[in-house]
Amino acid sequence: MTVSRKGAVAEGGIPRRIDVPEIHHFRGSLGRFATGVAIVTFDGATKRHGITVNSFTSVSMDPPLVLVSIARDTKAHDELADRPFTVNILGAEQQALALHFAGRPGPEPLFVEGETAPRLARVLAYFSCTPWAAYDGGDHTLYLGEVRDFDYRTGDALAFANSSFTTIPESQLGVEELL
Ligand SMILES: Cc1cc2nc3c(=O)[nH]c(=O)nc-3n(C[C@H](O)[C@H](O)[C@H](O)COP(=O)(O)O)c2cc1C
Repeated sequence: MTVSRKGAVAEGGIPRRIDVPEIHHFRGSLGRFATGVAIVTFDGATKRHGITVNSFTSVSMDPPLVLVSIARDTKAHDELADRPFTVNILGAEQQALALHFAGRPGPEPLFVEGETAPRLARVLAYFSCTPWAAYDGGDHTLYLGEVRDFDYRTGDALAFANSSFTTIPESQLGVEELL
């Protein structure tokens, strides 16, 4: 099933309209899935872009692939096609950065000129990617990148659930070093 921005639902190829309260209910239901918060950074044709996302997903280990889902009506959408990009995973103290790249500008962010794509300084983790594939995702496009460069630091993670930012303490993060 796909749900479009205008509320048209295609099921078995037969579209039906859904009303506004149902879209709110759908969004509210999706919002119960707690996520991290990331910023996709890349150089477009004429300028540098950044867009806050919580649609980041790891896809494959071999080859190493990650995915972000970008709304068609964003400025970043068309520019990201066929371009290298970095997914910057935010630490708990970086909520202002998340807002900056979601249309509420704050202090100018500090960039690092990565070998593959620009990235943000002092993030919790990053994955710099070359473009792998782009798939139709209704009113979004699913951009897959092949990870060329990555790293992480210690610290609490910024999270997003029920339309609010929250923190995931480091003690509850991955246990890979204990395995
Ligand atoms: C926590 C959070 C998560 C978001 N996740 C996404 C996402 O996964 N995909 C997306 O297209 N927009 C997402 N957005 C909205 C974009 O960040 C926002 O529309 C942005 O201003 C678009 O920028 P642009 O039009 O300059 O490219 C998210 C916003 C927030 C605050």
